[in-house]
Amino acid sequence: MQQKINELKPLLLQGIEQANTLSALDEIRVQALGKNGRITALMKDLGALPIEEKKAAGQLLNVFKTDVAGAIESKKAALEAAELNAKLASETVDVTLPVRPDTNAGHIHPVSQVMEEMLTIFAQMGFDLAEGPDIEDDWHNFEALNIPKDHAARQMQATFFMDGDLDKVLRTHTSGVQIRTMENKKPPIKIVAPGRGYRRDYDMTHTPMFHQIEGLVVDTHTNLANLKTVLVEFMKLFFETDDIALRFRPSYFPFTEPSYEADLGCERKNGEFKIKSGAGWMELLGCGMVHPNVLKNAGLDPDVYQGFAFGCGVDRFAMLKYGIPDLRSFFDADMRWIKHYGFLPNDVPTITSGLSFNAGGKK
Ligand code: DAH
Repeated sequence: MQQKINELKPLLLQGIEQANTLSALDEIRVQALGKNGRITALMKDLGALPIEEKKAAGQLLNVFKTDVAGAIESKKAALEAAELNAKLASETVDVTLPVRPDTNAGHIHPVSQVMEEMLTIFAQMGFDLAEGPDIEDDWHNFEALNIPKDHAARQMQATFFMDGDLDKVLRTHTSGVQIRTMENKKPPIKIVAPGRGYRRDYDMTHTPMFHQIEGLVVDTHTNLANLKTVLVEFMKLFFETDDIALRFRPSYFPFTEPSYEADLGCERKNGEFKIKSGAGWMELLGCGMVHPNVLKNAGLDPDVYQGFAFGCGVDRFAMLKYGIPDLRSFFDADMRWIKHYGFLPNDVPTITSGLSFNAGGKK
């Protein structure tokens, strides 16, 4: 038996040593210890030995078998570790590599892009950013804005009420942020408040959820000429042309006096809007001088302070600037639409490099 072991041992150990894959190693294991393996065969031979040799031979064989199995196990562990290291090395991500072009596969929604463009301009003009909640209370959405409970303007707003809480609504406009701002800060105030509004409305230019930017300026000498200058200069910067026509049409809002709606000269061709003076008009925003009652409700003395306010429909600005015909398509979550009208994620609008200048070549 000793002799047979001596012949077999170097053979097997060398094979184990040289195996360089897990499957090659497993083959050797089967050849040695499998059902028809060579060590298994020696085990079977034991039975034929005379009884006095059996014990010693059996012991030798067991030691041999354990040695071989151990060698296989440690080789297996080594091969597995090597395999893992190779995998880790090949899957390493070099974060210092330049961005790959296909990171542009995702697109920025035109509403996000236009929000950024608009806020960039207002920031440049010195406006601070303010925010308020989408679920607003009656005071901030209506009452403090000079819209009492029985006021006809409440019906005009097509409000979504919250179930079980009559004091809470999905805000019908961002104007409540005016009140929240004045309640918390003494003038001079110069803020813009971007956000969502909600109304029961649905057609080519209305969706139940829409985007607005509210503006509020309050100081001791704020006047209508200031309002007009801000809006006209804003339009030129936003539409990236001096050739615009902005019309201030007398209107009515409970929270401003006097009140206006501002329309931009544009024409509708093949369903798309194009900016053009003298063609037609598209309503873009409401504005006016803050009503004295509103100042009072927010804790300011109307004999000392006066202000102007405006509320822009961001989605309409997007339709106009980028020629998008139907507002409802904005919220269809259609990949083909976002690929066509969307913007590249790395093109951030700035005043100096141009707002839409880098925007995926879409200008
Ligand atoms: N909140 C009005 C709306 O959603 C828009 C508006 C009009 C806002 C006049 C104003 C304003 O700040 O002064 O229809």
